[in-house]
Amino acid sequence: MKTIIALLVLVFLPALVLAAEGGPELEKVDIDLTDKPALQDGARTFVNYCMGCHSAKFQRYERVADDLGIPHDMMLEKLVFTGAKIGDHMTIGMQPADAKAWFGAAPPDLTLVARVRGTDWLYGYLRSFYEDPTRPWGVNNLVFPNVGMPNVLAGLQGRQVMGCKQVQVQAEGKNQYDPLTGAPLTHEACDQLTLLPKTGSLTPEQFDEKIHNLVTFLAYSANPNKLASERIGAYVLLYLAILFIFAYLLKREYWKDVH
Ligand code: HEC
Repeated sequence: MKTIIALLVLVFLPALVLAAEGGPELEKVDIDLTDKPALQDGARTFVNYCMGCHSAKFQRYERVADDLGIPHDMMLEKLVFTGAKIGDHMTIGMQPADAKAWFGAAPPDLTLVARVRGTDWLYGYLRSFYEDPTRPWGVNNLVFPNVGMPNVLAGLQGRQVMGCKQVQVQAEGKNQYDPLTGAPLTHEACDQLTLLPKTGSLTPEQFDEKIHNLVTFLAYSANPNKLASERIGAYVLLYLAILFIFAYLLKREYWKDVH
């Protein structure tokens, strides 16, 4: 009997894990780490809206300035608010113990968060805060239920609420249509986020772009060597290609007399 139970558990374990992951489907985002304007805008959003609570302590201001093409004096004037020097790590003054008492959970360091959570998750998370009066900060999050973080970008995004909406029926990722009339098939879903129009300082498109840029910056921050390694990779391939020509000529030279 025990073996049968063990076997059943083993057979269904993958399904259980998948079910536990659950949650809303995440939109895919394309991240372009060579897009300097996007990275600069993301860095600006990060220091203005996130570094009140989150550090990026494995990163230095100087490295960010150099990688993103920001002159040091401009970096110090526009993006460093803590009185830090250009060579300092991007730390913050908030103490983890205080933070835990205020928010229930200490805001984690964000230097590597893009590697832990992935960029699709971050993009979804930062756009999925909605009003929920039962929560301490009056907000909840679709991607991170009962999150301890306040909705710090509400001023830009506006008021987002959860409610019921008619949404198109989907099967295997495809929209479904009525086979007789051709009209879209819809059903009522009650976990739908709606933005109340004109409540934020940005349009929905501008807000999405702002978040896209912020996520691009976080992706860079989690892997600042990626740009450099891609460049070096190209040189290595070039080197191998040239080496191949000489190796081939040498081979011809050696085999010339063998026949
Ligand atoms: C007022 C303080 C505060 C500010 C400002 C803030 N956060 Fe947070 N954040 C938190 C707290 C607290 C948590 C932990 C939530 C929890 O675990 O329930 C958190 C969690 C997160 C997480 C989840 C980390 C993980 O892997 O669990 C991400 C990502 C994040 N914040 C990104 C941001 C970004 C990006 C900004 C700037 C737009 C920002 N936060 C601004 C307080 C803040």
